[in-house]
Amino acid sequence: MLEPFSGLLEGMNNTCTPSSAAIITEAHVALVQSSFVHVLPIVDAAGLLFYERVFTLAPGTRSLFGDDIALQATRTMAAVKTVVDGLDNIEQVAPFLVRLGARHVRYGVLPEHFDVVGAALLWTLEQGLGDLFTADVREAWAAAFSVIAGAMLAGMEQAAASPAATAVVVAL
Ligand code: HEM
Repeated sequence: MLEPFSGLLEGMNNTCTPSSAAIITEAHVALVQSSFVHVLPIVDAAGLLFYERVFTLAPGTRSLFGDDIALQATRTMAAVKTVVDGLDNIEQVAPFLVRLGARHVRYGVLPEHFDVVGAALLWTLEQGLGDLFTADVREAWAAAFSVIAGAMLAGMEQAAASPAATAVVVAL
């Protein structure tokens, strides 16, 4: 049931193309992983800044979340870390993202929200990394976010098309 995501699962050689919208290279993966090392010591602050930015760009999304944004920020940044750590083994991290995306249907998330979240993530990284956020690092993170969003959207599509099957996946 991973057809929308099958390109990503074909494995990474020099270039991985999960869909026409998402292309990530080994050089991108290396830049994302090496730059994220510098985010980790400030990951709590980065998570809060990220959500502030999301709610500034799209105030209507605030009501989708509960009161405890610090907890939500911790969960989201932990998920980002899981993905960053797994980017060079994309076959293993893909199912995690597809399941995460499937759960997002129940949270009332819409596909267009991913543009906001991607922009907020890049902005947050720019604030956190300063001069380390070079044009190459930005491009690498944009590519990584395309992979994340592509996989999560595939999960959302599957969940929307087959809610019962998703309930089983979530229960597992
Ligand atoms: C980089 C992409 C994203 C990541 C890594 C991510 C990660 C997470 C994680 C780890 C959770 C905790 C619950 C769970 O694991 O199912 C969560 C919940 C949630 N996410 Fe995301 N998410 C992403 C994109 C989005 C987008 C685009 C939206 C739309 C605004 C969104 C809205 C929500 C909401 C509303 C919840 C539930 C909050 C609550 O229960 O109070 N997420 N997300």
